[in-house]
Amino acid sequence: MVCLGNICRSPLAHGILEAKAPDNWLVDSAGTSGWHEGERPDTRSILTAKGRGLNIDGQRSRPFSIEDFEEFDIIFAMDSSNFSNITQMAPSEEAKSKVRLIMNEAYPGQNMQVPDPYTGGQSGFEDVYDMLELAIDKFLEQQ
Ligand code: 4NP
Repeated sequence: MVCLGNICRSPLAHGILEAKAPDNWLVDSAGTSGWHEGERPDTRSILTAKGRGLNIDGQRSRPFSIEDFEEFDIIFAMDSSNFSNITQMAPSEEAKSKVRLIMNEAYPGQNMQVPDPYTGGQSGFEDVYDMLELAIDKFLEQQ
């Protein structure tokens, strides 16, 4: 799960998928920037998750790395800026083909964005949670 800072959107996506996925799946998140490396998720993400019964405060932000193309089968981007930043790092066409916009799982072909909630209030984080849960549920139904 990849966003810009790995403190708002992708930690929620990481927590939601980890809670719902089979135990033997490797689920992780990262940011296209290293601006918040080592930090906990934003307090608003932690609170939103807690309100839905998820504990994400053990997560730490890390930058996306080229090794992630080897480690993971699917790389979900939250928005088209994340998508283009990740695909530009892809070392091969096969690696590039692992990258998907997450909301396309729920709304195929619409290229809907998960909005960056960083500069807004708590309600933006709740909306992001709802969007991500919908997309992740659709994704899991198709596995
Ligand atoms: P995220 O949100 O990409 O969902 O983690 C952001 C977090 C931090 C910043 C921007 C977006 N920032 O500019 O520091």
